[in-house]
Amino acid sequence: MRSIAVMNQKGGCGKTTTVVNLSGCLAIEGHRVLVIDIDPQAHATLGLGLDPEAMEENLYEVLAEAEIARAGLDEIAVAVDENLDVVPSGVILAALEQKLVAEGAKGRTERLSRAVAQLPKPYDFILIDCPPNVGLLTFNALRAAEEVIIPLETSYYAMHGVGKLLETIGLLEDRVGHQLSVRILPTLFDGRTRFAKRALAEIRETYKDLVFDTVIRQNVRLREAAQRGIPIAKLDKRCYGFVDYMSLALELLFDRVEQFEDEAIAAAIENEETEAAAEKGVVFTFKSDKAADVQLAGDFNNWVPDKDVETRQAPNGTWEKIVRLGPGVYQYRYFIDGDWVPDPSNPRSVEGPAGGVNSVIIIS
Ligand SMILES: Nc1ncnc2c1ncn2[C@@H]1O[C@H](COP(=O)(O)OP(=O)(O)OP(=O)(O)O)[C@@H](O)[C@H]1O
Ligand SMILES: [Mg+2]
Repeated sequence: MRSIAVMNQKGGCGKTTTVVNLSGCLAIEGHRVLVIDIDPQAHATLGLGLDPEAMEENLYEVLAEAEIARAGLDEIAVAVDENLDVVPSGVILAALEQKLVAEGAKGRTERLSRAVAQLPKPYDFILIDCPPNVGLLTFNALRAAEEVIIPLETSYYAMHGVGKLLETIGLLEDRVGHQLSVRILPTLFDGRTRFAKRALAEIRETYKDLVFDTVIRQNVRLREAAQRGIPIAKLDKRCYGFVDYMSLALELLFDRVEQFEDEAIAAAIENEETEAAAEKGVVFTFKSDKAADVQLAGDFNNWVPDKDVETRQAPNGTWEKIVRLGPGVYQYRYFIDGDWVPDPSNPRSVEGPAGGVNSVIIIS
């Protein structure tokens, strides 16, 4: 199980959007995900379709009492989709810090980690949505997490406060007693502005390997999904919001994804409002001197080998398969002399719904 806290004391930098949509993408990839909303604003709860005020119980019940928690996380969790559960928050959580401090309660920063340790149901991922401050609730989240994602808006003042935040996390590491793996996620990227490009370059230069390859672009569909209370994966699998969060999910699972070219991002942004983003010819290359017949199939052609695929064959055993694809995340395999084979030159793969391994390609 991987537990990841999404934090930044700066408001509106994309924490909740990241929690909701990353969870949605991990869940449709077949991973069991629990979202814990520890922000009294309850935006992740809302973003996953639950009305915080209509909930009988929320995370407060789990955290408020020390010895005998009134409830376990599993009793509070609500299934919002296949593979996706959420522990809702509510405004009452805002009163928790005062209550615990007034009571002089012991172990008040360990309550969430204890509750997580007692979870009877196995999850592959726990994603915790933090409030925009570093108080008791964020402390609880960090103690319960092994990894931290810091969304960073790629704006003019992006870097302001990040150094301090990393310092704070370093200090917290001492206090929480375990190492935290911290990564920075550039968000709200608008490729049309010079500021955004400069901010992204500066973030990469300063924080190097700490920065994800994935950049989350500005995309109106993400706002629409939030308003409808669903992850983007449920609304639109062809928009940049989905492509970017799926790319983040794959990067978390496989460590690295190819960086989009800056120009490609800029061009994509300019097309953002166009209904159907342009398709382009994508070339899949397979080399073999043994194969007599190489075909290509994927979710783009309903897994019908070579349907809508143009083939170019060179005498040296190189097969080129050309497909016209719009932005999206696609699964595919080669069909070689009657066998289904994942792409040997592509390290990114996922378990296919019907078993076996599919290769994955991201077109931005
Ligand atoms: N990539 C994006 N493209 C377009 N809109 C976005 C994107 N990311 C976030 N937003 C919008 O920006 C606003 C702030 O995002 P979000 O709520 O995720 O930030 P936050 O860091 O969780 O804020 P808070 O600190 O208040 O919890 C929301 O209205 C959200 O829909
Ligand atoms: Mg938020």
